Amino acid sequence: MTDRINELIARVEAFSSRAAGEIEGFRIRMLGKKGAVTELMEEFKTVAPELKREFGQRLNELKNKAMQKVNDLKTAAEACSTAKAASIDDMTRPGAGAAENAGSRHPISLVRNEIVGIFARLGYTVADGPEIEDDRHVFTALNFAPEHPARDMQDTFFIEKEPDVLLRTHTSSIQVRVMETQKPPIRVICPGRVFRNEAISYRAHCIFHQIEGLYIDEGVSFADLKQSLLYFAREMFGEETKIRLRPSYFPFTEPSAEMDVSCNLCGGKGCPVCKGTGWLEIMGCGMVDPNVLEACGIDNTKYSGFAFGMGVERIAMLKYGVGDLRLYFENDVRFLNQFDSEI
Ligand code: DAH
Repeated sequence: MTDRINELIARVEAFSSRAAGEIEGFRIRMLGKKGAVTELMEEFKTVAPELKREFGQRLNELKNKAMQKVNDLKTAAEACSTAKAASIDDMTRPGAGAAENAGSRHPISLVRNEIVGIFARLGYTVADGPEIEDDRHVFTALNFAPEHPARDMQDTFFIEKEPDVLLRTHTSSIQVRVMETQKPPIRVICPGRVFRNEAISYRAHCIFHQIEGLYIDEGVSFADLKQSLLYFAREMFGEETKIRLRPSYFPFTEPSAEMDVSCNLCGGKGCPVCKGTGWLEIMGCGMVDPNVLEACGIDNTKYSGFAFGMGVERIAMLKYGVGDLRLYFENDVRFLNQFDSEI
């Protein structure tokens, strides 16, 4: 009997586990109804009275050791599993190594965010509109004559002719939607994707991005337009930037202008990017035509306003010196990795 007790004590001492199932199995094997320790206790009843004292002490020692072991291991296993749970407190946290492999924002998003940020500081809010539009919002309400060539199949992607469903060719359609639903004063900046039926080349694409701006209130003048756009140009291209406005034509503005900024690469002296002129054309603008105000339900005897629209790819090209439009759409990571994204 002594040998068996010693052997069991050695087994109890040697046992170790952090798994709750294994610890329970061990408890059953030792202390369960048919466990080794329990069986010895049964046998003990038949031990001669003069040996009872000695065996009794050893047997108690074994039983206590086994109970102590089970308790200790259970406590340790519980502590271990709560510690594990605590260390994955945030299941959405990026895994190890995620920081080095983090993506960056697309250059078009970076430039769009920067432009939107500048106008936000002038009190403009962002407005959105659908990419799939109708003739009224893209052309008619913007004072395009019925026979205007922009409606032609060459330029516009028509989805259906009757009723007319088409992809917007410019973000000016958002102007119309805003004027139809909001009362002046209106001050919105409208970024979005636009679509034109153009052959893809280094300088043209059938999908590109524009940002439209619209300001309507009582007594808004061309001087307000000029000062707002000068502020924008200086924020975007630097304090020293100059602007110039050249007369132009858009159906939805009267008068209309094309805005140039002094070339930020050569400082206006003339270089290949500005083709020796010292100026870079960056947007169209003008005073909202009274016909447009009327078509959108705004009293044109009380309110006036200005609008402007620019191509995001064009500004990105000037900012980053990337001359091939197609690079913005190919999503080659070697290209995209070159842009830092803090905004
Ligand atoms: N929608 C014009 C285009 O796609 C850009 C534009 C010009 C927008 C003048 C305007 C504006 O709001 O006033 O070329």
